[in-house]
Amino acid sequence: MTVIWQLGALLSLLSLASAETGHAAWLRYAPLPASVARQYSAPSTVVALNISEVDPVYTAGQELQKGIQGIFGGKVTVANTNISLSSPAIIVSTLGQYVKAYGSETAGHVPELTDDAFWLDTTGDTVQILGQNGRAALYGAFEYLSLIAQGNFSKVAYATAPDAPIRWVNQWDNMDGHIERGYGGDSIVFSNGTIKNDLQRVIDYGRLLASIRINGIIINNVNANATLLNPKGVDGIGRVADALRPYGIQVGISLNFASPSANLVYGNLTTFDPLNQTVIDWWTNVTDTIYDRVPDFAGYLVKANSEGQPGPLTYNRTLAEGANMFASALKPHGGILMFRAFVYDNHINETNWKADRANAAVDFFRDLDGVFDDNVVVQVKYGPIDFQVREPPSPLFAHLRQTGAAIELQITQEYLGQQCHLFYLPPLWHSILDFDLRSDNKSTLVSDVVSGKRFNRTLGGYAGVVNVGVNDTWLGSHLSMSNLYAFGRLAWDPHGDSETILQDWTRLTFSSDPAVIETITDLSLESWPTYESYTGNLGIQTLTDILYTHFGPNPASQDNNGWGQWTRADADSIGMDRTVSNGTGFSGQYPPEVAEVFEDISTTPDNLLLWFHHVNYTTKLKSSGKTVIQHFYDAHYAGAENAQTFATRWERLKGKIDDQRYNETLFRLRYQAGHSIVWRDAINEFYHNMSGIADEAKRVGSHPWRIEAESFDLDGYDVYQVHPFHTASNFTGIVTSSNTTAGTATTTVPFESGTYDIAVGYWDMFNGTSKWVLSLNNKTIGSWLGDNEKYLGHEPSRYLDGHSATRVTFHNITVEKGDTVKIVGTPGGIEPAPLDYVAFLPEGVID
Ligand code: GCU
Repeated sequence: MTVIWQLGALLSLLSLASAETGHAAWLRYAPLPASVARQYSAPSTVVALNISEVDPVYTAGQELQKGIQGIFGGKVTVANTNISLSSPAIIVSTLGQYVKAYGSETAGHVPELTDDAFWLDTTGDTVQILGQNGRAALYGAFEYLSLIAQGNFSKVAYATAPDAPIRWVNQWDNMDGHIERGYGGDSIVFSNGTIKNDLQRVIDYGRLLASIRINGIIINNVNANATLLNPKGVDGIGRVADALRPYGIQVGISLNFASPSANLVYGNLTTFDPLNQTVIDWWTNVTDTIYDRVPDFAGYLVKANSEGQPGPLTYNRTLAEGANMFASALKPHGGILMFRAFVYDNHINETNWKADRANAAVDFFRDLDGVFDDNVVVQVKYGPIDFQVREPPSPLFAHLRQTGAAIELQITQEYLGQQCHLFYLPPLWHSILDFDLRSDNKSTLVSDVVSGKRFNRTLGGYAGVVNVGVNDTWLGSHLSMSNLYAFGRLAWDPHGDSETILQDWTRLTFSSDPAVIETITDLSLESWPTYESYTGNLGIQTLTDILYTHFGPNPASQDNNGWGQWTRADADSIGMDRTVSNGTGFSGQYPPEVAEVFEDISTTPDNLLLWFHHVNYTTKLKSSGKTVIQHFYDAHYAGAENAQTFATRWERLKGKIDDQRYNETLFRLRYQAGHSIVWRDAINEFYHNMSGIADEAKRVGSHPWRIEAESFDLDGYDVYQVHPFHTASNFTGIVTSSNTTAGTATTTVPFESGTYDIAVGYWDMFNGTSKWVLSLNNKTIGSWLGDNEKYLGHEPSRYLDGHSATRVTFHNITVEKGDTVKIVGTPGGIEPAPLDYVAFLPEGVID
């Protein structure tokens, strides 16, 4: 008995310790603990009434077999013909096939199923999974598997239908294999200018997407390359469509508006004017060619007249004229044209107080409502600017009354820490989807606009920019996958609760262990407020470097350029005046009830204060009575402080999840702890410097526990003025004098003897791997490499700046006052072993 128990315990330890790469995501079908599994007797026969092997019903049968075998062990057989209903089985089918096989009387209890809806009934001996169509049956199979994988064996009988017909993902994959704003490696679809031969990862992705009820995918970047339309490209699109058809996912592509005048085999025109007949014929021909290969092709996504992309405005045609040209070509085939509302001029003039990029979408589209063909859907980013940490909803949602609308959400965390900072997105998405725009003084939730309910549209829905890559983790970070999972759940039901969704995902992805659920829930739900606190507060947006990698801090980059992500910060004041009375007029783009709230500073919520109003740093907030500047300082300290706890709270989970995912996540959370301090100091120093207003708590600019690298004795190291200045402690760092020879920085410990955490601030640049060794009295405390780029998929930097600034911490080091502190830095490549400071941190101190 004892021996067996030990063996069992050993096996369970081994299985925990064994590596999980993250590839299986939430579809692991991990064995349930025996005590739970024994509460349910899963049928060992699956009847899948598919009509072919590419029918998603066939896939559903295979998936049920795989899932039940994984969760309960044992063997499950799949029959593809109707067997007698007397023995316990799982029947998965379309409602139509089921009725054909068993007679309509056996389906009398099934309510009417709308498009993509399914019925799941586990109350009888036979589990019934019936879809309105094939993909819906597959959704039902995944739903059943999700319940039992979580040990939820309740008897249920219900039908569920999607809130919106369009539930698509967008990949921003380039044909060379690089992904724009992708942080999980290169493309799973493209390499070397063409579509890959091996599409196994695409198939695996299709499986994940089907399990969250995604029904369409745009496979290439919105900044599209016309060569995808070449015969080889079209055949590739066909192969991707073939790979995804068994998962009920239709394929579409992004188009370059100027394709007809790019050098393509279909004839190289001298124009791409959407009203020119040769251009219309050109697109009709291309579209027909695609449908010959892919009869169920989903449609096109078009980014036009935006950020340098060509479009109809080039020929003084309206955006609707451009969109309708594609819509007409697609119409006979049943295809959809997703036309992006992200149209704006990126050369606007900041000296004009009334200029405002946020106005662009409504200015361009308002008068076009009713002019678009009925298979056009306008795809609108959630906020008026660009996936920022806090934005109000795009007012365009209130203006598309006779046009299908889809909301564009970004799963890839472009402005939100690029998967290196934890950010659980659903609460942010809810702040938009649940927003009531009050059109005609009636309830007008954004979710009801995009579902089509509010303005009686038949088309509408959700587009999620996902950008998964070849990395085993898909997105680069295990915890970020909750966002992809939740995107599918919310596209199906936008009223889904963020926490419930997260906990389902956690149980499926990691474990049902209460500590695992509690820790991941707490960290995830704190992640948005935490990140917002140390990046950009009060609606000022993510104060990242908008001119470079969108990752680290650089508030100065927001202003003095034509991109229009302005803060209008000067020595006394900050914020965009978007009022009608005195500003850009943006608040007037909302229906009156909402416009009134944002027009008036006293009713504008504090978290959007600087989005709508230009105020003095000394203006007091309604919520706290603090001044704007003091709120900035305090929030940045509080946010970074909370971020320090993430890694230590995660450490509770050691042994409760497999080592690989545990360690990879811990690495990122530790990185975030260091980088949140970079953010905190950079933003605070910047506004402190600009306003000259001191922090009441005297923290900003004061680092009592740091020794600046430039104050060490330097041998082979030079002092370096960092730009932007606020991304270095004391605005200064050191770099090795040559890029081949090591440098040494030496000093003595000025602090009282005791136990300290020693944190070293340094820069880890792209294209080089330096090595640093830290010692105390010539005893090595630790060494590390500047190779973060190997592990963190964020966009790298070639400079010493807020993107490359980072820190490493060595814990519980015994230190004597007067000890010799030495760092030897060996440069590698272009990286000159840069150093910023060494901090000696007594317990509980963050500096
Ligand atoms: C952002 C992003 C670009 C992208 C653009 C878009 O500006 O940085 O990479 O192309 O959005 O959505 O079109």
